[in-house]
Amino acid sequence: MEDTALNYIIAIIKSETFWTAIGSIGTIITLYYIYRQIANARNVTSYEFLRKEDDRFKSEEMECYRINLSMILLLTPDNYKNIDENAPCVLSYFEDLGLMLKKGLASDYFIWTFNCYYVIHYWKATEKFIEWLRKEDNDPTWYSEFEYLYYKMLKYEKKMTKKKLIDIVPNKEKVEKFLKEELHVKLRPFVISDIDSVIEIEKSSFNETDAYQLSRFEELYKQHPKGFIVAEILGQVIGYIIGYVSDEVGEIDSIAIDERYRHFGIARKLVQTILNDFKQKGIKKFSLEVRTTNESAILFHKSMGFEVEKVYNNYYDDGADAYLMTLNFE
Ligand SMILES: CC(C)(COP(=O)(O)OP(=O)(O)OC[C@H]1O[C@@H](n2cnc3c(N)ncnc32)[C@H](O)[C@@H]1OP(=O)(O)O)[C@@H](O)C(=O)NCCC(=O)NCCS
Repeated sequence: MEDTALNYIIAIIKSETFWTAIGSIGTIITLYYIYRQIANARNVTSYEFLRKEDDRFKSEEMECYRINLSMILLLTPDNYKNIDENAPCVLSYFEDLGLMLKKGLASDYFIWTFNCYYVIHYWKATEKFIEWLRKEDNDPTWYSEFEYLYYKMLKYEKKMTKKKLIDIVPNKEKVEKFLKEELHVKLRPFVISDIDSVIEIEKSSFNETDAYQLSRFEELYKQHPKGFIVAEILGQVIGYIIGYVSDEVGEIDSIAIDERYRHFGIARKLVQTILNDFKQKGIKKFSLEVRTTNESAILFHKSMGFEVEKVYNNYYDDGADAYLMTLNFE
């Protein structure tokens, strides 16, 4: 019985069909191996390409373009001509990515990992402008690769996160929040060389009676160097805050933002930073004084949680009253 089986196996091994089959299997394995190697090489190339593109997106030069475009989109969202002058460098970045995706030179997974958030938000921030540009130029192909990229990313995000489209596509508020983040506002301690910019902001923010003079800033800086913080965009000082602790109360002495950069959440950032610093020191009560007629500042402080505690009559040199506004932190 065993001899018959052995003879049968020997017969198969000796047969031409057997060796032809072995040869075919070998060819298939080799081809599969080559295919895997090519796929891996493509993935590596795609990854390297996107890494480089990501460096380009985060470069100082691109950061300037992104800040300028975001500022214009926040300040004059309907001034399409103005947007047109500042948009190409940022939008052509996404246009390039879209083209690479369309031609299969970059994988959708890698683009999703690196850029999805930016693609979706920049598209929503500029889609009305793009619509205008297409009509104005009578050319529907303007930024069509960017549009292709946007829809691909939406699909991919939906697939990966299992979220609904309505939760993925950002609304107006989310786009605005995104653009404010794109301003890359930096907060840092004040240094003496900032003084001219601070005084300029001071002069344009307060009337002559209230505006601090150089000597007052110098004095405050000497007494509370760590409580003097400036906000800057692209290296330009655009706001400041001075705060310090006095008798266990965190006092906000002064705050002002360059008029052109108001309503971007910069004062909020400054106040939050100084309040966090106070909180870390164990301070539980914060206070400030504000002219009773300074409505926008009062609204701002209220938005930060401060409430009017009392009125100081005749508080300012011109006889005007001030509110004492306080915030208690438990
Ligand atoms: C008050 C001041 C510092 C606010 O700066 P800002 O950077 O524009 O404020 P933010 O953008 O961070 O505003 C944060 C929130 O405050 C409120 N707010 C700010 N300015 C406001 C205004 N003019 N009217 C109504 N609410 C206002 C809003 O709730 C805002 O949130 P939102 O943008 O989500 O609506 C700025 O207007 C300023 O420099 N004024 C002149 C100097 C001054 O009066 N300083 C205060 C002395 S006590």
